Amino acid sequence: MKATARACSNIAFVKYWGTADPALNLPFNGSISMNLASLTTETTVEFLDRPDDDELVLDGVPQSGEALARVSRHLDRIGARVEVDAAALVTSHNTFPAAAGLASSASGFAALTVAACGALRLDLAEAELSRLARLGSGSASRSIPGGFVEWHAGSDEESFAESLAAPHHWELWDVVALVEERQKEVSSVEGHRRASTSAFLDARLAGVPARLAAVRRSILERDFEALAAAAEEEALELHLVAMTSRPSILYWQPGTVQILQRVRRLRSEGLPVFYTLDAGANVHCLVPAGHQEVLRAELVALPLVERVLASPPGGPAQLLRAC
Ligand code: DP6
Repeated sequence: MKATARACSNIAFVKYWGTADPALNLPFNGSISMNLASLTTETTVEFLDRPDDDELVLDGVPQSGEALARVSRHLDRIGARVEVDAAALVTSHNTFPAAAGLASSASGFAALTVAACGALRLDLAEAELSRLARLGSGSASRSIPGGFVEWHAGSDEESFAESLAAPHHWELWDVVALVEERQKEVSSVEGHRRASTSAFLDARLAGVPARLAAVRRSILERDFEALAAAAEEEALELHLVAMTSRPSILYWQPGTVQILQRVRRLRSEGLPVFYTLDAGANVHCLVPAGHQEVLRAELVALPLVERVLASPPGGPAQLLRAC
């Protein structure tokens, strides 16, 4: 009744922003991402022989409130499949700062799903694990398969993620410049809820099918320039919708703008690089293999950048141990 799993975080090139069904985490649109090998969560789930409440320890700190409740709801969902209602002890470690816009919920809920299923000896196919992870956190559905991944919109049945290409298909590096490591003020959950209050959401959604096709093609053909153009437009649209939601959400900090300007300058000087942002102030800068050290040095030198992390594409969520 005890198992440990590891899952990668992911960075989306076409983003999930806005929920058609908040209870089932069904997105308005499909999305495409790359798993991040160096940004992982390792989680152990142990079902205990007692009916008491679940416990969650994240990076050594016992959790309570909504963080614990969200994990408990997910464990109940998984336990219900095999009629197990035991309390669980969950210990989880991130290799990166949680809740700083680096999609800790993606790697967190993917690792939790695989560990809980492992502990309960629930042997599910990848698509089913992805659907299950989606119920915990939308972006977690994309951290179940490996490499470059597409998550489909649609009904509960249809909405799961699958690999478009393995990690070794294309060695892109994500160099993440951190300008803020504290918890963001508006959670993604709340951002998804507010998306439909933006007058620009419909315009964005109308363009998503063409963008999904462009990003899919650019990944399969390793066309960096096409991916760069689509992914930057996409990131700006997400933030446009967030900024124009009611109430408005402004994730950007001065350091964010400093990085965007620097990336544009570096590109005009010949470096193949593009940026994308999730729901936070930190900026993900992508380059083909061989350029990551130059980019890292450029970003570290910016006065408002606190820290830089770098990652190549990562594999699928994995069950490490079960006993
Ligand atoms: C901006 O699925 O992480 O990163 O887990 O419900 O907080 P919650 O939301 P999540 O939202 C992801 C939002 C995003 C875009 C993306 O990764 O597609």
